Amino acid sequence: MNFTPSVLSFILTAEAEVYGIPTKKPKFHQQVQPSPSPWSPWKVSENIVTCENNIIMQLFNRVAFVTGAAQGLGKAFSEALLNRGAKVCFTDIQVSKGKEVEKTYSDKYGQDRVLFLHCDVSSSASLANSFKDAVSKFGHIDLMVNNAGIADESRLRDMVNINLIGAIEGSMLAVEHMRKDKGGKGGVVINIASTAGLTGVYFVPSYCASKFGLVGFHLSWASNPYNSQMGLQFGCLCPAFTDTDILNQKEKQMLYFEDGQRITKHLGINRVEKVVQGFLQMVESENCNGDIITITAKEDIQYSRRASSKMSHL
Ligand SMILES: NC(=O)c1ccc[n+]([C@@H]2O[C@H](COP(=O)([O-])OP(=O)(O)OC[C@H]3O[C@@H](n4cnc5c(N)ncnc54)[C@H](O)[C@@H]3O)[C@@H](O)[C@H]2O)c1
Repeated sequence: MNFTPSVLSFILTAEAEVYGIPTKKPKFHQQVQPSPSPWSPWKVSENIVTCENNIIMQLFNRVAFVTGAAQGLGKAFSEALLNRGAKVCFTDIQVSKGKEVEKTYSDKYGQDRVLFLHCDVSSSASLANSFKDAVSKFGHIDLMVNNAGIADESRLRDMVNINLIGAIEGSMLAVEHMRKDKGGKGGVVINIASTAGLTGVYFVPSYCASKFGLVGFHLSWASNPYNSQMGLQFGCLCPAFTDTDILNQKEKQMLYFEDGQRITKHLGINRVEKVVQGFLQMVESENCNGDIITITAKEDIQYSRRASSKMSHL
């Protein structure tokens, strides 16, 4: 079917809005400049270490725990953190893949900085045990990244268990471990949601529901007036379609499969590197508490919400 340019533009705009891609500035959007780069000289503090190449790194020797990280975004986030001198425990249900990545990262960044553990985020016990093992190896956790996720409309209960309950339980383990009022060192919790957690998407309604739930959880914790005294920050990353295996859905995993495929094609697909860039912007910002960053192929990296309270500890 051929469309005139104006009709095509109307369709694309409508579809973009359906998928949550901001085509015009929504009311709550507060686009602000990202925090000053941690590389800038004024950021020097006791928490920031100068590395061999004279780059000032605030992630140096920080310890991260990343779920669902044997491949895709979690794997890329883990490598980005290692590359900045952090120590990373990355976890997944895919053990052989995870072990392979562990070998590669250990060879590149050092055995003492890398740990792969089996962790099924849909099991409270598995999450708690792997978190405990990571603390045993590294002493503590500074950064919790709840990334594990699936997109499969035919596995509703699994999807809610993994995408929502897994991320909530992961966050709560981190909160209990990190909170300064209970002897912790403070820390940052990043939840990986989606633009589908900000706007309804008719071809993946249950996925959307799980991600909306996660955004609600993030916003609630981010608004906690005691975060400052607990030394906690909550950030939320919302990528749109990104070039990972999660996009290789089968027909039964999506409603209106053809619409989904067509809309994905129209809206474009993020490169993983772009999402990693948004992730680093968040974890390296002076204060990410309350931030929601969206990453879309057309609009790039944007802050859709930004917290105003000042807090810095990473
Ligand atoms: N790629 C996208 O288009 C996109 C867009 C928005 C949000 N996201 C979100 O990004 C996150 C990462 O996804 P991705 O794109 O890298 O996809 P991916 O499929 O490549 O990676 C997901 C990882 O989660 C793991 N996993 C699945 N079930 C698990 C469980 N029960 N316990 C632990 N790990 C489990 C998988 O083994 C896999 O390694 C997900 O939360 C996803 O919803 C992805």
